[in-house]
Order: sequence, then C-alpha cells, then structure tokens
Amino acid sequence: MEFIDSLVLPQSSEHIELLHYMLMLVLFLFIPFISIIFGGTTLSLYFRKKGIDENNHIYLKFAKDIIEMLTINKSIGIILGIVPLLTAILVYAQLLHTAKVSVISYLTISFFLTIISIILIYTYRYSLSFKNIFDSIKDQDSNDPELKEEIKKFKKGNQSLSSKSGMYGHIFLFISLWIFIAAVTLATYTSDWGNENLFSLLFSWKVLSRFIHFIAAAFALTGGAILFGFFYWEGGRKNLSDDYKDFVRRISIRITLTASLFQPLFLLLNLFALPNEALSASVFGYSFLALFLLFLAYHYLYAMIKQSTSRFSGHVFYVLLFTLLALIIKDQLAMGNATVKQSVILNAQFVKYLAELKGTGEGAEKLSGEEIYQVRCSSCHAFDRRIVGPPHNEVVPKYEGKKEQLVAFIRNPIKVNPAYPPMPNPGLKPAEADAIATYLLDHFKKK
Ligand code: HEC
Repeated sequence: MEFIDSLVLPQSSEHIELLHYMLMLVLFLFIPFISIIFGGTTLSLYFRKKGIDENNHIYLKFAKDIIEMLTINKSIGIILGIVPLLTAILVYAQLLHTAKVSVISYLTISFFLTIISIILIYTYRYSLSFKNIFDSIKDQDSNDPELKEEIKKFKKGNQSLSSKSGMYGHIFLFISLWIFIAAVTLATYTSDWGNENLFSLLFSWKVLSRFIHFIAAAFALTGGAILFGFFYWEGGRKNLSDDYKDFVRRISIRITLTASLFQPLFLLLNLFALPNEALSASVFGYSFLALFLLFLAYHYLYAMIKQSTSRFSGHVFYVLLFTLLALIIKDQLAMGNATVKQSVILNAQFVKYLAELKGTGEGAEKLSGEEIYQVRCSSCHAFDRRIVGPPHNEVVPKYEGKKEQLVAFIRNPIKVNPAYPPMPNPGLKPAEADAIATYLLDHFKKK
C-alpha cells in the first residue's frame, strides 16, 4: 500500500520498540474478540441448521442464544472488531516502512472483508431476534387475515435474510482471517519478502498450519466464552430449564476440549517452523507458558466432566484467554526478532532524516546553496540590510574572484569588523560551504 507507506516517517529504535508493544496491545483486543465472533457464528449456523433439519427446539434456541451472547452488541463489534485492526495496519505500516513486502496490502484486504463480515454477522444476529418478535405476534392469533398474510411474508423474508447473511458473513470472515494470518506470518518470514504471491502464501504449509492453530484456538475460546456467559457471568443465566443447561454445559465442554486438544501439536509445529532469526529464549518461554495454561484448562475441563458441574466455567475461559494472549506475545516477539534488520534500517533512515532536519546529514549535500543558506544563514543575514551580521551587498564584493577565501571564511569565520560581534562557526561541510559561497557570489548586487 504505497498510499499508507507514503504517510509514514522512519522511526527511532526506541519508537520501534514502543510500536511493537502497541501492536501487542491492539492484537490483545482484536484476536480474542474476532476468534469468539468466528467460533460463535460457526456454531450458531451449525446448530440452526441442525435445529431446522431435526426440528429440535433446543438446538434452535442454542443457535440464537450463543450469537446474541457472543456478539454482545453493534458498538462492541466496531470497537473490538474494526478499530483495533485498523490501528494494527497503521502500526505494521510503520514497522515495515520502505520494506518491499505486501503485508500491508494483505492486511487491508482482510480489513475490508472483516468490515463486510461483521455487518453481515450482526444482521444475522438481529434477524434471529426479529424472529422471536414474529413468533410472538403469531401467538396472539390476529383475526385480520390481511395482516396475517403480511406478517407471514415478513417472516419469510426475515428468515431468508437471516440464513443468507449468516452464511455469507461466515464465509467472508473465514477468508478475511485466513488472509490476516497469512499477512502476519509473512511479516515474520523476512526471507520471503519481495517475491510473495497471495495464493501460494495462503496455501503454504506455514500459513495453513498457523491458520489451523488459530481456528482451534478460536473454537476453544468460544466454547470457554459460552461456558463463561451461561454459567459464570453475573452468577450465570437464570430462568433456564435444567435440560437446556445440561445440554449447553455438555456441548460447550466438548467443543472446548476437542479444540484445545489440537493446540499443543500445532503450537509446537509452528514454533519449530519459525525461521532461526525469529527464535529467542522468550519466544520459547511464552510458548511453554501457553502449553502450561492449556494443560491447566484440560484439568478444569476434566474436573467439570467428572463432577458434571459448571463450577469451573470462569476458570476455563480466563485460562484459555491467557493462553491466547501468551501466543500473541510469542508471535509478536518472534516478529520483532525476525525484523531486527528492518528496524536497524528504519533507525538508520531515522538518523539520516533527523540529520537532514538539522542540516548536518549527508542528505544536505543534495540541497542547493540557496536552500542551505535560507536555513543556516538567513536568521543573521540579508543581502540589503543589517540583521545580526552585515548586509551581504556590503561584504561579499570583496570576495569576487576569491571564492576559496569566502568558503574558508564561511567554514571558519574570523573576526573582521569591530562594529560587529564575531560570527559563530556554522560547522558546515566543504561541499555545503562551497554551494553557499557560489550562491552568495552569484546573488549580491554590485554597486
Ligand atoms: C548568529 C548570527 C550569524 C549567522 C547564523 C551567520 N552569520 Fe555571517 N556574520 C555574522 C556576524 C556578526 C558577522 C560580522 C563578523 C565580523 O565582522 O567580525 C558576519 C559576517 C559574515 C560575512 C562577512 C565576512 C567578512 O569578511 O566581512 C559573511 C560573508 C558571512 N557572515 C556569511 C555567512 C554565511 C554564508 C552564513 C551561513 C552559513 C552566516 N554568515 C551565518 C553573523 C552570523
């Protein structure tokens, strides 16, 4: 995305480090939320279809309950699903400034797909709520046949809107997350930079195995979030029949357990697939912390199955959430390690840029004599009047045909006229002094 890259300035190494932390923070918001949205939509669609096919009310209720619970509300969708991703793109743009790599373009594609999918998923969510309203109207048994017909039509329209928006939202989110994972993976594999191709990247083993790991983590966290929402949050849901509660508990434990059993394998596979320069003690440290937390989650889940209780619902959710955070930290550290060279380049660019601003860098040679003069001399000098120093029209003529002397003076001023204070040494390079001298000799007015 050249457009975004052109907005970015090179950064100092301190700033780059800060950006890495900021990125982690933003991903802490985005990844858990979008994982739960993805897992929740998948499960809701699955149970809705199963409920319709088998004409089972428990499945249908579950489909509606989980999407309502997990999507929370529209503003949360924007705050956690869209804003952090946009921020992440801007941070990546700074970190990968001037690097020839398509990470930013891929993230931008993923960003637009995410917006579309979030809109569709929230449409699905609200259309399921509408369904309840229509159902309750039916219960009141209107006597007006015309109204009845009207309601039937709306109901049908709503139903098809609901299944279509849910399905498309799910597909878009799936693709968007796949591209997202591909983009952040690419950021760590610096040796691939410059000759990447989106399709071969998407189907490369390193992206696929990370994506599978992501999906497994997403379902584990979603299962945990369902347990959390039904049985822990605000003391658990009230007014639920025991049958339904039992069903929810069993099914979410099963989902959470199955999905988290997959994780260690992929965690290790992905860890060992990382390029050497991405590895460090803390990358291993956080991987093992994630593994430890996973085993803790198994322990709680096992206790819940064994005792047929929903007691550890809160624990399971928090432990899985922290697992995900540990994995995000691990990935970001790995990226930081892998892109050290890029950071050094950026820091070097930053130093050069700063030097140009100060007028001491090599880049300054490219400036014309007049430009350097404007920055370095014009505060004290003008051609036709006295400021701090004498007017050039008075003092430069004596240097006509003696440019070397003028250059020597500019580089190393000596006391000349007792009527003026001494001129401070401007500390110019020979080429710069030469350019200014040429400019002065060309521009003073001969009397
Ligand atoms: C902080 C103020 C200040 C700045 C900045 C400054 N000058 Fe001066 N300049 C002076 C003063 C004061 C004198 C008079 C010194 C004297 O006569 O001893 C002077 C004298 C000169 C003279 C006359 C020397 C002579 O032989 O009489 C030239 C030429 C000159 N400056 C060029 C420059 C150029 C080119 C720059 C920018 C690189 C510059 N000055 C920046 C204050 C300044």
